[in-house]
Amino acid sequence: MEENSLWYKKAVFYQVYVRAYCDSNGDGHGDLRGLASKLDYLQATGIDCLWLMPLYTSPLLDDGYDIAGYKDLLPEYGSLEDLKSLLDEAHKRGLRVILDLVLNHTSDQHPWFQSARQDPKSPFREYYVWSDDERKYSRARIIFLDTQKSNWTWDEAAGQYFWHRFYPSQPDLNYDNPAVQSEMLEVARFWLEMGVDGFRADAVPYLFEREGTNCENLPETHAFLRRLRRFIDENFPGRILLCEANQWPEEVREYFGEGDEFQMGFHFPLMPRIFMALRSGEISPLTWALSKTPAIPESCQWCAFLRNHDELTLEMVTEADRQWMWEQYAPEPRMRLNLGIRRRLAPLLGNERSLLELAFSLLLSLPGSPVIYYGDEIGMGDNIDLFDRNGVRTPMQWDGSARAGFSQARLQDFYAPLISEGEFGHQRVNVQRQENEAGSLLSWLRQALRIRKAHPIFGMGDMTLLESGNPSVLAFERRFGEERLLVLHNLSRRKQTVKLEMEPGTMPRPEVIYGYAKGMPDFNFYRPFEMEASTYLWLKIT
Ligand code: NOJ
Ligand code: CA
Repeated sequence: MEENSLWYKKAVFYQVYVRAYCDSNGDGHGDLRGLASKLDYLQATGIDCLWLMPLYTSPLLDDGYDIAGYKDLLPEYGSLEDLKSLLDEAHKRGLRVILDLVLNHTSDQHPWFQSARQDPKSPFREYYVWSDDERKYSRARIIFLDTQKSNWTWDEAAGQYFWHRFYPSQPDLNYDNPAVQSEMLEVARFWLEMGVDGFRADAVPYLFEREGTNCENLPETHAFLRRLRRFIDENFPGRILLCEANQWPEEVREYFGEGDEFQMGFHFPLMPRIFMALRSGEISPLTWALSKTPAIPESCQWCAFLRNHDELTLEMVTEADRQWMWEQYAPEPRMRLNLGIRRRLAPLLGNERSLLELAFSLLLSLPGSPVIYYGDEIGMGDNIDLFDRNGVRTPMQWDGSARAGFSQARLQDFYAPLISEGEFGHQRVNVQRQENEAGSLLSWLRQALRIRKAHPIFGMGDMTLLESGNPSVLAFERRFGEERLLVLHNLSRRKQTVKLEMEPGTMPRPEVIYGYAKGMPDFNFYRPFEMEASTYLWLKIT
């Protein structure tokens, strides 16, 4: 493994829903051994770090984000030994692995909660947040708007209301209780001792509650997160914390602290604006998000992403933009969920290759480490007939055979139906086919990742937006020490004329490293030039 404490700044992340990835024992559920058998594929793709979604004991009312045992795995995923050997095999290949760490809440099936509700004298009573009055903390918003009316649910056995920011099956932990804080540090220690490289910390804005506030991003919450970071730095240097805070840029900024809180944070406000820009053909949503992106400490890094296992959240856009996004990308009501859109990348972009390339090119060239959602590398589809967010969590499509190479189980025993019809059916969209096709999306992406890896500037460099003289052409420069890149994206579906505001001599010999440069033979960027419709260009300046 590369011994560089800033490894995450250059890394390409890949989000794996283990249940969906590969089933080694034919029970219809993907598992750790199945994932281990695919590490060569991930290495060949150019992935540096896997993020595994929750694997812990759980009644699965929120797909494992409702934990009933923090230090055990759900048997269908495999044993602790299986996880250890996955970590070993990954590390041998230079791949790192981070796990989800769900700090905010447990499952109501967790023994802590069971004891808490049944016995008012239980030491676990104070592990949760109780009230006789459901009007407490009334300024906190409801997150799962479609299904929840309140953040309080009455518990008959306890004779009180308990607090939950998500489903009622997910009672919030009480971080005012020092015992809860210590428990969670011990949970982190357990997995770090096993060798995981860090955590994607789930739903961190909500750890503490205070009357009269919206109960998000409170100073007490930051103080605990800094404590967690200190604990990791002292005991497991080099391991990382990735922050999931679906908030505006100024608020996400706080989670980096002075470089003493999270090393990484998802860039939530950027993500929907990539889709706004791609559909409108205008760069303004992107330039807005980029200009609002605050500077972060040197040792920190954004995580950019296109899609993940949740709905494409529109919490961080204006009401008008949300309506527009719904009209454009979710014309059918069942494509909508909460304040978002429950669809995958390829269907969102009409399965248009040029748009998929543009989206990935933005993801890979803008500042931040990219996180690729499993299956998006081959342009998998979704199944909007499935409930909640399950439509974007269907089995990975490895090949065109009857069971898609995912499992030996009978199809009716698959944890979720395979997508096997239409343009996204596994017969057409699968890894095997794309690995053997030089022109496939997967081959295109692998090449892009190779180029990114060869140029650390993509991860390490800063970014300056350039005036392109055209509202459809995003132009920016990346710089890292002596290294320079010029990156151009024409988001319009028409050929565009670009006039960079540039003094002659400032852009000496541009060399195309990726993209479509036909018709630009002399690369004279000091005078107007043309870019073909929906194309991108990565240039190295020497
Ligand atoms: C964010 C996760 O991404 C989502 O899937 C989950 O439902 C909530 N946090 C609650 O844990
Ligand atoms: Ca299995």
